[in-house]
Amino acid sequence: MSDSKSKKYKLGMIGLGTMGRNLLLNMADKGFSVTGYDKDQKMIDKLEEEGKGHHLTGFGDIKKFVDSLGSPRILVMLVPAGPIVDSVIDELKPLLSKGDLIIDSGNSHFTDTNRRVKELSKDGLHFFGMGISGGEEGARFGPSMMPGGDRNAYNDVAEILEATAAKVKGEPCVTYLGPGASGHFVKMVHNGIEYAIMELIAETYDILKNGLEKSDDEISKIFTDWNNGKLQSFLIEITGEIFLFKDKKTGVDLVDHIKDQAKAKGTGKWTSQVSMDIQLPIPTINEAVANRDLSKFKELRVSLSKRFPKPKDKLVLSLEDLENALYFAMISAYAQGMHLLVQASREYDYNLKMQDIAKIWRGGCIIRATFLEDIYEAFEKDHNLEHLFLNEKVQKIIEKELPSARKTIVTGLQAGIGMAAFASTLTYFDTLSTGEMPSNLIQAQRDFFGAHTFERDDEEGVFHADWNKVSK
Ligand code: 6PG
Repeated sequence: MSDSKSKKYKLGMIGLGTMGRNLLLNMADKGFSVTGYDKDQKMIDKLEEEGKGHHLTGFGDIKKFVDSLGSPRILVMLVPAGPIVDSVIDELKPLLSKGDLIIDSGNSHFTDTNRRVKELSKDGLHFFGMGISGGEEGARFGPSMMPGGDRNAYNDVAEILEATAAKVKGEPCVTYLGPGASGHFVKMVHNGIEYAIMELIAETYDILKNGLEKSDDEISKIFTDWNNGKLQSFLIEITGEIFLFKDKKTGVDLVDHIKDQAKAKGTGKWTSQVSMDIQLPIPTINEAVANRDLSKFKELRVSLSKRFPKPKDKLVLSLEDLENALYFAMISAYAQGMHLLVQASREYDYNLKMQDIAKIWRGGCIIRATFLEDIYEAFEKDHNLEHLFLNEKVQKIIEKELPSARKTIVTGLQAGIGMAAFASTLTYFDTLSTGEMPSNLIQAQRDFFGAHTFERDDEEGVFHADWNKVSK
């Protein structure tokens, strides 16, 4: 064993693919002695090559790797979510000691994380679910990290995570979020919001391209201009850049050669599923998930498009209205995600601090945006804020943007442009801001055909009416 391999390392990374390697290099840059493990020697070579000059090394033998770590051992896993996580844990378990900490940084389902936390705690081992956002660049130069698990175990890893995370106004985009699987839950909702914003941007692109007949260059300029204003965010920024990228093969804009069929790894769907389980509606996220699925039906879409041509009228809409509408809808997507977190925190006893979540999403992650500063301020001002729409500053923004949102959505729908996420966002807002919904009728219908009973607004109790004897 070389001299450098005989020293004890502060943290070990399992899985030296691009994300794992980049995060490890980031930690090494910050002066921490770190080590990596991978079954593939090529990955170890790559790590040692890229990490030259740092106190950093790689192992292909898991026992030697574990033994090289100081106590308590801190192990971060960046392996694909699913059964691989369990098999890595099975390999590690006999080699670990009480108090050691395993951190799963993949996008694991939070229920799997719950199970793993419980199983490992029987052996005195700590297990963290810690979502990492920001892609490969983020991992290398500063991601947003969402750790959840045992509070005391966080202290063992706080210093290294805080040094490695992105910084906004000098503050790290990582903090302890809560017990159990709360870290993975928060990351899942982050991704749900990510899906919603991506879908809203895609629908905006549809209006610009097919409604307003803008060229790719013009679309790029519009998004780039918007990124200098209230819409400033990572997703708007990269969208502006995408439309400038030329395809090496054909020389035309690459975006125009990409199939219009979106894929997904599942975190958006999980967000929708959980929201239905705990009965906290997030319609914009649901529509984003549904539209990725609808996009797969290419053949059906093409054949139906021949039968049902779109209206011929020219779409008339100002860019200002479109920008305002997108702002309104993006705010609502964040608001829905935050509301889901508020409810999940109650449901699963996560004791989430919403201001902390907004704070660590301001930088490093895919949904980072200037508007997150307002979200942070709103929850910082009122730690028990039930819904973002109740914040005064947000209320003022909504009041200002609402007319443009209505105009944009009506105009797009009249032109036959699919606006699933936009329209559901507006409907969500209109429904949530109405004191009287028509749900009394639904209760009457349920009681009529199934004697499901109803409640009255003028008397406590549960009632049933003999609807069939209705006087005609
Ligand atoms: C992030 C991303 C990342 C996610 C990809 C792909 O925060 O860095 O959310 O974790 O895996 O964006 O997600 P889909 O394949 O589901 O689009």
